[in-house]
Amino acid sequence: MFSLRTLYKASLLVLVLAATGCSHIGINESNSIFIGRYTEYMWGDIPEQYAELTNPLSASLVNIADGEKLYQLQCMMCHGKAGDGNGPAGGKLIPGPANLAFTRRLPIATDAFFFWTISEGGKPFDSAMPAFGEQLSDKEIWQITHYINTGFNFKEGA
Ligand code: HEC
Repeated sequence: MFSLRTLYKASLLVLVLAATGCSHIGINESNSIFIGRYTEYMWGDIPEQYAELTNPLSASLVNIADGEKLYQLQCMMCHGKAGDGNGPAGGKLIPGPANLAFTRRLPIATDAFFFWTISEGGKPFDSAMPAFGEQLSDKEIWQITHYINTGFNFKEGA
């Protein structure tokens, strides 16, 4: 017999499949449930200190512009200029860098999800996503999160 927990996990899986769209399924797909990041988040298994976080910074032009600069320095080589996961350093990685322009539209793409992912990276999931928790300040991580949430279309002064 399946335990209730297994059944619950299976139904979560179906929900995630529905949310991410079937074209995104595949062992080498970055926005994939097989990485385990989505199910871990949805199951509430992320470290407690991240669970309730919300972005404390306003989405001001300054914060977004700073986030853009940081993104270009630290993230673009893998995740690409448009956030589509096609950065020059990402081509050979398995799994490949996630399509963040897509991720940010998912219901799970909360402030807590971004802060946890960017701080702790892909070690728990055997991926090349670096952990930036030591390297970037909390403020910098939140600025990058604001930038991602502009959909990579930010034009200062526009
Ligand atoms: C060396 C390449 C590399 C760099 C640099 C990098 N990432 Fe990643 N990132 C990955 C890979 C590979 C994945 C997919 C595997 C995973 O989720 O751990 C990923 C996944 C993610 C995810 C999860 C998205 C999802 O849908 O699951 C987020 C959010 C993210 N990266 C943000 C960032 C940000 C912000 C930066 C810069 C501060 C950054 N990454 C820098 C390789 C990279």
